[in-house]
Amino acid sequence: MTETEFDTPTGVVTLRRIPHDERSPLRAWDAADDYVLTHLAEVESLATAPGQLLIVNDSFGGLTVPLAGHRPIVWVDSVRTERAIRENLQRNDVDPTSARLLASTETPTAPIGAVVIKVPKSNAMLEHQLRTIRPLLTAEATIVGAGMVKHLPRSAIELFDAIIGPTTTSRAHKKSRLIHATLDPDRTVMPSPWPITVHTDVGLDLVNHANVFSLNQLDIGTRAMLDHLPPVSEGSSVIDLGCGNGALGVALARTAENLSIHYVDLSHMAVASARATVAANLHDEGTRSTFSVADSLDHVETASVDLVLNNPPFHDDHVVGDDTALAMFVDAHRVLRPGGELRVVANRHLGHHAKLERVFGNHATVGSTKKFVVLSAIKAAIKTG
Ligand SMILES: C[S@@+](CC[C@H](N)C(=O)[O-])C[C@H]1O[C@@H](n2cnc3c(N)ncnc32)[C@H](O)[C@@H]1O
Repeated sequence: MTETEFDTPTGVVTLRRIPHDERSPLRAWDAADDYVLTHLAEVESLATAPGQLLIVNDSFGGLTVPLAGHRPIVWVDSVRTERAIRENLQRNDVDPTSARLLASTETPTAPIGAVVIKVPKSNAMLEHQLRTIRPLLTAEATIVGAGMVKHLPRSAIELFDAIIGPTTTSRAHKKSRLIHATLDPDRTVMPSPWPITVHTDVGLDLVNHANVFSLNQLDIGTRAMLDHLPPVSEGSSVIDLGCGNGALGVALARTAENLSIHYVDLSHMAVASARATVAANLHDEGTRSTFSVADSLDHVETASVDLVLNNPPFHDDHVVGDDTALAMFVDAHRVLRPGGELRVVANRHLGHHAKLERVFGNHATVGSTKKFVVLSAIKAAIKTG
C-alpha cells in the first residue's frame, strides 16, 4: 500500500502522487526531500523574507508543503506537478496562496535569498535554471541542490561549481545527496542559451527550450513517424498529443491546407517550444494552431477530432512505465470522431499494439524500423439500425 504520511522536521504531512494508486509502492516524496528538509531545519537558518525562497523542480509538494510557511516561489515545468502541489497543500489545510507557482518559462524575480533545487533529469534544464537564477541571488544566498545518488551525475555537480561558485557535496544519506554552492560574485557567467534552434535534414527548424524531449536533434522515433504520417483532408481537426517541440504537428501541417492543429503537452517548456516551432516553420498553409499546457485531453470535447498524433513517453520522471501511454490512448479514443484515427510511434518492445487492441478493438502496423513501429487505430463508427 502507498505510504502517504511524510514525517518532516516541521511535522507530519499527508502527500499523494498524481495519479494516486493505492497499490503502488511509489511515494510522493523521496529520501532527497527528507535529507534537504532535515538539513535546512538543523543547519541553515533560512532567514529569508517571504517570497525570497525559491523551490525548483518539486515533484508532488514534498518540499513545498513542509516549507509553505516561508511563502516560497515554486518553479515548475509540469502542470501535473502544479496540480499535485495545490491538492497536497489543500490536503494539509495549508493556505493555497502561501506558495506562488511559477511556470518554468517565466523568470523568478529578485531578490532570491535561498534556493532549494531538486536536480532535474536533464543537465540542460539544470544549466538553464542555474544560469537564470544566478543574477537574482542575494550575496548571502543559500543554494542547496538535492537528488538521489543514482540520478546525480558528476556533471550536474560541476554545473553548480561553474555557474554559481565553490561547491561541495554532503555524505550520502539513504542513497541521497545534497549539493552546497556558494555564490562567487566575481565570475562572469553567460545567460542561458535556451531556447535553441535545431536545423534538421527533414526541412524543419525545431525550436527547443531546455527541458524539451530530444533537445539536440530530431528523435529517431519522431523521424520514423514523419515517414508514415497519415494523409489528411483539407480542414481536418488534429491533435499533437505530447507535442514536445511540435515536430509531428508542424510536419503534418505542411501536407494539407487549412488544418486545425491543437498542440498539447504537460510541460510548459514543451508547449513554448511547439509555439516557437510553429512560428518558425508555418507561413502560408492556412493552418489554425492552438496550444494547451495540459495533462492529456480532459479539456478537449468528446468526438470532436479527426486525427491524434502521438509519440508517447515511456518515462514518468525517473520512473519507467507505460501507464501514461495507455491513459493517452483512452483519452484519444474519447476525443476522436467515429472513423477518426490515432497514429502512434513507439519503441517496438513496448507492445503498444496490444493496448490499442484493448482500447480501440483494432490496430494496424503502418511502418517499422529496427527499433520503432508506427501503429494506427481507428475509432469504430457508430452502428445504426
Ligand atoms: C516521447 S516525447 C514526444 C515529443 C514529440 N511529440 C516528438 O515526437 O518529438 C513525449 C511527450 O509527451 C509529454 N507528456 C507526457 N505525459 C503527458 C501527459 N499526461 N499529457 C500531455 N503530455 C504528456 C512529455 O512532456 C513529452 O514532451
